[in-house]
Amino acid sequence: MSAGPVVRCEGVTHVYPDTDGTEVVALDAVDLEVAPGQAVALVGPSGSGKSTLLTVLAGLVRPTAGRVSVAGTDLGGLTERALLGVRARSLGIVLQTPGRNLLPYASARRNVTFAQRSAGGTRAERGREVDGLLEAVGLLPWAGTAARHLSGGQQQRLALAVALAGDPPLLLADEPTSQLDRATGEVVLELMVRAREERGTALVVVTHDREVSRRLDVEHTIHDGRLTSGPDRG
Ligand SMILES: Nc1ncnc2c1ncn2[C@@H]1O[C@H](COP(=O)(O)OP(=O)(O)OP(=O)(O)O)[C@@H](O)[C@H]1O
Ligand SMILES: [Mg+2]
Repeated sequence: MSAGPVVRCEGVTHVYPDTDGTEVVALDAVDLEVAPGQAVALVGPSGSGKSTLLTVLAGLVRPTAGRVSVAGTDLGGLTERALLGVRARSLGIVLQTPGRNLLPYASARRNVTFAQRSAGGTRAERGREVDGLLEAVGLLPWAGTAARHLSGGQQQRLALAVALAGDPPLLLADEPTSQLDRATGEVVLELMVRAREERGTALVVVTHDREVSRRLDVEHTIHDGRLTSGPDRG
């Protein structure tokens, strides 16, 4: 991993064309830096641009203007194939619709196994790591269940286990506790905070949950696509 910031955005603007010919400015000249191992909360009203920023950081949406680099790689001129490489090496992603990141017909265990990217360790060790992640999100009893048969909240938790399986330097999570009750949400938050403490995973977490935000180092607020940074409490 590079020594510089794990995320750097400079003047990132994204404009969605609307069907009626008008345009929506979802991101307006956003500057953002995330240090390795830093935990960032992104808050703001519905429609303010939070998910757009996350998908831009994930390389899933190319911004209309500005520069984005992730783990030292400028996403700008990359081909789709190279972007896939950056996602595979450097990113864990939990989208607002978690099912999008899962293999629907594969079991929960298979989903996590598939996402392990280091070839290190014996087969048994790798298997234990998978079961450890499933246990951490409370899904060990559902290890054999196909992802599409899991509930929304279970899919959300599986998506987090999948995102962490590759031990990425950066985890992007879009409202990872939105479909969970308080106790289960707490478990998911713990898992993210622990990944950060034990493995130095940087976190960018979109959340409406004050409790989640309070546990992270810094809170950035987005209003109408414009980002304002809060003080670092880390
Ligand atoms: N694919 C799209 N095409 C056109 N407009 C879009 C698209 N995705 C988002 N938008 C618009 O961009 C703006 C920002 O949307 P975004 O999804 O980033 O908001 P958000 O902050 O994540 O909201 P929420 O809290 O409701 O998830 C909104 O006005 C939305 O309507
Ligand atoms: Mg959103």
